[in-house]
Amino acid sequence: MSTEYHGLAPLGRGGLSHRRPTALSTFHFGAPYYPEHWSADDRREDAARMAEAEFTLVRMAEFAWDVLEPEEGTFDFSLFDETIARLGKRGIRTMLCTPTATPPRWLTLARPDILREDPRGTRMQHGARQHACHTNPCFREYSRRITQAMADHYAGNRHVIAWQTDNEFNCHFSECHCPACQAGFQDFLRRKFKGEIARLNQTWGTAFWAQTYTDFAQIPTPKPDRPCYDNPAHRLDYYRFVRESVAVFQHDQVAILRAANPQWFITHNGCFRHIDYRGLFGEDLDALGYDVYPFFDPDPEHRPYSQAFNLDRVRALTGNFLIPEHQSGPGGQGGYMHDTPEPGELRRMTYTSIARGADAVMYFRWRTCRFGAEEYWRGILDHDNVPRRAYDEVAQIGQELRRLGPAVLGTHVRVDVGLAVGDADVEEAHDILSLGLPNPRTIAQRLHEDLNRAGYAVGCVHPADSLGALSLFVIPHWASFDPAWVPALEQFVRQGGVLVIGARTGTKDMNNNVVATTAPGCLRELAGVSVHEYGRQNAPDKRPLRITYGADSAATELWYEVLKLEDADELATWTGRHLTGETAISRRRIGRGAVYYVGTMLTPSICMLVWSRVQLDARIEQLWPGTPSQVEVVLRTDGSRRVWFFTNRSDESVRLPHTPTGDNLLDDDEVTGGPITLDRHGVLIVRES
Ligand code: GAL
Repeated sequence: MSTEYHGLAPLGRGGLSHRRPTALSTFHFGAPYYPEHWSADDRREDAARMAEAEFTLVRMAEFAWDVLEPEEGTFDFSLFDETIARLGKRGIRTMLCTPTATPPRWLTLARPDILREDPRGTRMQHGARQHACHTNPCFREYSRRITQAMADHYAGNRHVIAWQTDNEFNCHFSECHCPACQAGFQDFLRRKFKGEIARLNQTWGTAFWAQTYTDFAQIPTPKPDRPCYDNPAHRLDYYRFVRESVAVFQHDQVAILRAANPQWFITHNGCFRHIDYRGLFGEDLDALGYDVYPFFDPDPEHRPYSQAFNLDRVRALTGNFLIPEHQSGPGGQGGYMHDTPEPGELRRMTYTSIARGADAVMYFRWRTCRFGAEEYWRGILDHDNVPRRAYDEVAQIGQELRRLGPAVLGTHVRVDVGLAVGDADVEEAHDILSLGLPNPRTIAQRLHEDLNRAGYAVGCVHPADSLGALSLFVIPHWASFDPAWVPALEQFVRQGGVLVIGARTGTKDMNNNVVATTAPGCLRELAGVSVHEYGRQNAPDKRPLRITYGADSAATELWYEVLKLEDADELATWTGRHLTGETAISRRRIGRGAVYYVGTMLTPSICMLVWSRVQLDARIEQLWPGTPSQVEVVLRTDGSRRVWFFTNRSDESVRLPHTPTGDNLLDDDEVTGGPITLDRHGVLIVRES
């Protein structure tokens, strides 16, 4: 569903697709750097050490508004000028940031009305970050002023090549209910419903619980202090308003930066709630950035899988991405402290990130700070500034990237099995009224893990993206579904693709209301089935249900649907309670492909049950047959170039029975195709010849 953004035209490169490489001509490598935290002596030494580690880019200034504009209207760029010049002499370029995540004290004192307000009416206070409201016209004006001042000052500086807008929009705080947001939300609704309150009443179903409004000015932002559940369409539109507000706030900055120097590469580091990265927000950028912190997953065995899924999820939004912050040591904040990466683990994580679409990597952070809320968030260098194994590992990767970087730039990640992920409306609509069922993204993540472990080229793809290169596309429980996506799905199937649709898909519209058409709604004709009965399984142990396919069967956990075949064949049936013998899974052949409809949640055991049939229809094979499950295999390609990544994600040494033949990009050897042993955290990267 497209949102209206005050008629703003996107300022980026367009063509968002999971297969879009970035337009970077150098594979950049470096770290976020905070000269404002360090003495002049430290700063002098830093540039040399960064150069020794093969840095090409540092990111600066995202929290330095107080240094750049110590008093209103008085700018002081000297610290950054000096640092940029010193790094520039060593061939290290700079990515600057607009510093709007931390407005300075003079501003919050002079204009406390810019502070965000939580749903209970509490104003955020000065002293942390993300305390100002993106909708507030006064804050937008100050944001434009500091952006303009920085843009004017650095427009002609050849060392400044890139910008990051703000820092991790919406990472701590996404909602705001201040007076500016009340007015902004009402204005958003006026535009959306073309000034006709009757349209809003109808779309939101305000007849339910006497919510009817007679004027847009009566409509509040949805807050949790109502006695019980709120209106799902109202809340979804509020989230859309939040998304628009942050996109427009960023657009102000991007417009200024592009006007000052059209050569600048502009990015932002995501990914967080209530941002539509596939909308204006992502389209304004040259490429999205994604901050990679795998150690938020506390399970070391699971961590490589969650890292892989998160990278694929981000690539589904706009394509290949930059990593403005990559974990380099344990993160410690508030009540937690991560594990410390083992020797080789940082390198393994980095190559997992590059394999799955990173076109630039910067490690958070250069040196661990000795003060402030993140004084235990470890960087490449420790508190005592002594380079140890993290620095050595980073320097090794820097060396390796001299060959590897040019080999992967311009390539995309090969995907055979696409999982539908990445629609802000669908995922947020689910969370608003979930019925206690897992978010479709969580279901996709479980499938991703299994397919990844089994060695398939699995990735995440939005249904509006081009599906042509996929063999199999799986839509897990997208209750809200846009009928505009259906024709491309049909074409995909007719041309030989296999589509698997999970239960509940197509049952709601894009306003979070249930549709009148029998489920699966706009997909009914394509699937050739309708849903005759459905139900939640709240006690599957007491009233078990199974799906039987041939001689095998598997238990369902959460949900059942009884299917009525309309133009499809029965593939599997229900066993248990009153469902025995009813259709559970259908298959319809159309053109050269097939559509499966699965009348339950796509849990791994249900998928396993019919996998052999689906695999046969989709004609998919493991990406590099024979790869043991402990090793992740990913292919980056542009059609002619083929770069293979093998990473050992287990704790043991693993033998790869055979490899592609070509150049080993991590040392100077040829790889001849014979067996190779990968040690714990070991990596092999081969450019096929
Ligand atoms: C990121 C953030 C950084 C730093 C880091 C470690 O989310 O962008 O500024 O806070 O986490 O906590």
